[in-house]
Amino acid sequence: MPKDWLEWHDLYNSEPKLQQRLEIVRQYIAYSLDNAPTGNIRIVSLCAGDGRDLLGTLPNHPRAKDVYARLVELNPQLVERGRANIESLGLTKQIEFINGDATSAANYLGAAPADIVIVCGIFGNLADENELNRLLENLSFLTKKGAFVLWTRGHTHGIAYSEIVRKYFREFGFEEIDFQLTATGDMGVGIHRYLGESIATPKQEQLFVFSGVPNKAR
Ligand SMILES: C[S@@+](CC[C@H](N)C(=O)[O-])C[C@H]1O[C@@H](n2cnc3c(N)ncnc32)[C@H](O)[C@@H]1O
Repeated sequence: MPKDWLEWHDLYNSEPKLQQRLEIVRQYIAYSLDNAPTGNIRIVSLCAGDGRDLLGTLPNHPRAKDVYARLVELNPQLVERGRANIESLGLTKQIEFINGDATSAANYLGAAPADIVIVCGIFGNLADENELNRLLENLSFLTKKGAFVLWTRGHTHGIAYSEIVRKYFREFGFEEIDFQLTATGDMGVGIHRYLGESIATPKQEQLFVFSGVPNKAR
């Protein structure tokens, strides 16, 4: 069991569920880049970990030169690792990795609304459906009209939590582009498009509460 979020990331080396999830998330990032409008592509990633989903996709993508991204992550060691990767990819002018609180709206000023919003590894770390609703509602601050939102949600005790997420996305004015379960069958990955209007100010400064812990991560 991982004792912190840095150790949790080591599970990518051994857990098929996480490896398959990463593969699908990268496919969805590539799809979003393929279908982004011409010109600059703004990306934000919440609770970004070490940024391996986006940083593993950009080097092979023809639209990489158009990307301006802000990744927000609390764990300083993961941020350090991500920044080193950004530097080695020569993307320091395009990607900022903020060591800060992803639940705070202030950390997206100047970066939101975005064309692509990455919300991976978060929904399973919210206290309940009210908190999920709060975050989905606040996505209208982070996303442009027509933006892509990429998300993941693990299943536990045989409960298909990703179905609940899909239902709420529909209710909040998102169109589902695609949804896949990992081959392991217990992790949902989705890509939705926001059809509503973007709002300039969120209802609350705190967009959601991340209450999960790494040894129970879902
Ligand atoms: C389940 S991991 C997911 C990481 C990454 N998105 C991925 O899919 O590989 C959750 C991440 O959220 C980070 N985190 C937890 N609370 C946070 C907060 N308030 N602000 C920013 N990051 C936070 C943790 O440090 C951890 O890296």
